Amino acid sequence: MSVYLVTGATGRVGRALVAHLAAQGLPVRAFARRATEAAWPAGVEPVDGDLARPETLDPALAGVEAVFLFTPLEGPGELAARARLAGVQRGVLLSSIATQKADPRENPIAARHLSAERALAASGLPAVVLRPDTFASNALDWAPSVRQSGWVRLAYPQSRRVPIHEQDLAEVAALALVSHAHVGQAWWLTGPRQVSQVEQVEAIALAIGRPLQLGVLSEDDALAQWRARMPEQAARRLLDYLRKCVDQPPAVSPQLAQVLGRPGRDFSEWAQDHCADFGR
Ligand SMILES: NC(=O)c1ccc[n+]([C@@H]2O[C@H](COP(=O)([O-])OP(=O)(O)OC[C@H]3O[C@@H](n4cnc5c(N)ncnc54)[C@H](OP(=O)(O)O)[C@@H]3O)[C@@H](O)[C@H]2O)c1
Repeated sequence: MSVYLVTGATGRVGRALVAHLAAQGLPVRAFARRATEAAWPAGVEPVDGDLARPETLDPALAGVEAVFLFTPLEGPGELAARARLAGVQRGVLLSSIATQKADPRENPIAARHLSAERALAASGLPAVVLRPDTFASNALDWAPSVRQSGWVRLAYPQSRRVPIHEQDLAEVAALALVSHAHVGQAWWLTGPRQVSQVEQVEAIALAIGRPLQLGVLSEDDALAQWRARMPEQAARRLLDYLRKCVDQPPAVSPQLAQVLGRPGRDFSEWAQDHCADFGR
């Protein structure tokens, strides 16, 4: 029986995809740099490999029917090209809606994902491209502060986005992986509604059964915080985006519901699913 190869398998989307495929009784190979150190559902075959080390790719591709690719700095081009040569039938790429909304000359996120999409197309591997907007799981950034102090400090708390649950992304990816019917498509994927950061914090408070305090960060304080974990340019871009999303939030896409035949999960459901991360 053919195997489904999931790269980024220890990541938020990859892990949900591995679990979803395994729950359907499908054979899954979970690929990450330290996959064998992680716990997996029964029947999952973990494989240690590095997208930046080509010699680790061919062994992972043996007997693979379809591969889930994501977009690390190294890009998925080498893996896609080798997958094609190894007889893999199709790929599903986790890209980003930034490819459609931002100028790649100014936005490194758009540039990285565009280059991944182009590398995949150049490989000749038949593929489906997933272009999600903001992940609901970005709210996990608030988890340490929620657990430690019960405070969430935010720049532009009224900023609204369209957070998508990683489980929905995993289910869409699984659909595209197991059937050839969707090859050639690119799907714009969002959550089911626009949600402000204030509403997100309220949903988390409800999920954990404790009130949370909301503090407003000035632009300077937000930049000072983010500089610790991202380059200055990326921090400024994030701030600009949050400011813009107060009045011009991104639109909700109908495509996830069309593909899955049901609406996407609301952020409140994501908060319930992750209440343990926030210290419930
Ligand atoms: N966050 C958003 O709002 C958003 C929106 C649109 C698109 N995206 C896309 O989603 C992606 C993130 O997905 P995610 O949240 O599921 O990822 P994640 O939680 O950050 O996990 C990344 C995964 O990639 C693996 N990995 C990293 N470098 C690797 C390498 N060189 N070789 C093999 N495996 C490697 C990591 O495992 P090891 O470290 O164990 O190897 C881990 O499994 C981003 O790259 C972006 O392209 C994100």
